[in-house]
Amino acid sequence: MSDSRTTPVTCSLLQVEAARVVFQTASNRDGIVAVNDVSLNLDRGRTLGLVGSSGCGKTSLARAIMHLVPLTSGRIRLMGTDLSSLSRSELRTRRRQFQMVFQDPGGSLNARMRVVDLVSEPLLVHGLARGAELNARATACLGRVGIPEEAVNRYPHQFSGGQRQRIAIARAIITEPALLVCDEPTSALDVSVQTQVLELLRKLQREGNLGMLFITHDMGVVRQMCDDVMVMDGGKVIESGPVAQVLDAPAHAVTRALIEAALAGTGR
Ligand SMILES: Nc1ncnc2c1ncn2[C@@H]1O[C@H](COP(=O)(O)OP(=O)(O)OP(=O)(O)O)[C@@H](O)[C@H]1O
Ligand SMILES: [Mg+2]
Repeated sequence: MSDSRTTPVTCSLLQVEAARVVFQTASNRDGIVAVNDVSLNLDRGRTLGLVGSSGCGKTSLARAIMHLVPLTSGRIRLMGTDLSSLSRSELRTRRRQFQMVFQDPGGSLNARMRVVDLVSEPLLVHGLARGAELNARATACLGRVGIPEEAVNRYPHQFSGGQRQRIAIARAIITEPALLVCDEPTSALDVSVQTQVLELLRKLQREGNLGMLFITHDMGVVRQMCDDVMVMDGGKVIESGPVAQVLDAPAHAVTRALIEAALAGTGR
């Protein structure tokens, strides 16, 4: 019989239980069910791919995990804590532990700020550094993502799309989060740049022992990036498991169609 006093309490990094997200709209009296009874577990050091066709609910689930849209029902725990039980200031403090990278880096970067200030801002907000240390840490972090020191005083529009996404990634990792949610981080980039940004994310994931939720349409990217994969359709998870298992023996027609699209090189 196990002794509960001596058994170490282990909990996964992210636990989603029966999450449901319903958007209320004027045109639809019942609302739009974007996420319907989704459960998942993600541990540190693992990458979980989230795939499915457009409108299946991937971003809505990611935004619910990030606490950017409310759950209609269900529960989300980060390191054992239900974030909805926290006060606003406690949640603000916790935000350094879970960060998101969006599809369009332009949208997440304030055009009027120098990149060194953009990247140091989260440190300032969370009280993790100040003064000269702010600039030094932001410059070092930008170096990790491949932005050279002589470029850190420039503004976002002075960089390419791939470089802007690197800057957005630096801003997401500078607080050393445990969880990184990436919502189609390379879909807006040229193919050659996509590969470099994916390699960068893999490197950072390993170095930071990050738990990563990686949203994509592209099963080729899933094979390259993920340990496990979850396929969504109409707000529900229709198939999930280790990448090799799901990709080599897909059980569902939607999964097969996504694999065929990747093989055909369209990724969609
Ligand atoms: N703020 C919102 N208000 C109302 N409906 C929304 C809202 N956000 C998303 N939806 C709807 O929820 C459903 C899921 O959308 P979501 O953006 O999560 O899909 P997705 O899988 O990320 O799609 P894509 O691959 O195109 O990014 C869609 O029917 C969408 O129209
Ligand atoms: Mg989306």
